[in-house]
Amino acid sequence: MKGVVLAGGLGTRFHPVTKVVNKHLLDVFDEPMVFYPIRTLAQAGIRDVTLVTGEDISQFKRLLGDGSDLGVRLSYSFQEGERGIADALSRAEALVHGHPIVVILGDNIFQEDLGPYVEAFGDQGKGARILLKRVSPEDARRFGVADVADGKILGIEEKPQAPRSDLVVTGCYMYDDRVFEIIRTLVPSPRGELEVTDLNNVYIQEHTMTYDALTGWWTDAGTPASKLKASILVALEKGVTFHR
Ligand code: DAU
Repeated sequence: MKGVVLAGGLGTRFHPVTKVVNKHLLDVFDEPMVFYPIRTLAQAGIRDVTLVTGEDISQFKRLLGDGSDLGVRLSYSFQEGERGIADALSRAEALVHGHPIVVILGDNIFQEDLGPYVEAFGDQGKGARILLKRVSPEDARRFGVADVADGKILGIEEKPQAPRSDLVVTGCYMYDDRVFEIIRTLVPSPRGELEVTDLNNVYIQEHTMTYDALTGWWTDAGTPASKLKASILVALEKGVTFHR
């Protein structure tokens, strides 16, 4: 199985700093954001990882090199602009073609070892698998929200005004090797992006999507507030105590 980390996009929620620095190079506690998803893949036993990013690709190469410091063999691919998560993934095709893949969004921080879920996907053989997490109803509106019944996933709604559940889709997605073929059938959403939620809904409609619910904490670091939360969670994990 191969890994893909998506670190493209324009990071507009962090303007003005992201006018000059890629969001995924900003710090989460004491390390660059992009270290976390790469380490999560390495911990899950994935050695070959492709990083997709934009204009700042040379800075990533300076920081990460061949990936060996983080326990992976890293290759790089370029995405122009902000054309969506599914578009970013399509940029990795030449490097991972013919393999099942585990994709992690570059701003997602997972507490737990994802190895058992990746193994379960390996046993599943075909289709796709996603990881869900229960969050507060106010938070759910920021994410893809899953409609689940009797252990089956019925659909995902992207950033709904009135979420139908508090189970949200985290930024870890596992796909079989048909994923690129399916991405080619997608059309841009009203915001002009190829949406990962549209991709996932194709697998759901063909009944080959499964899910696991995470037990450890998970957060994105994609807004100033959630990046601060991520830093605090990582610091606590590393044994830091805060005094006032
Ligand atoms: O964090 C989980 C959520 O991520 C999911 O619940 C949502 O269903 C999913 O759409 C996504 O929502 P966001 O609004 O947080 O996505 P965002 O546009 O912030 O992009 C997240 C990461 O994906 C970003 O850190 C880098 C990568 N990305 C995104 C875009 C739009 C790219 O590499 N290229 C892109 O064009």
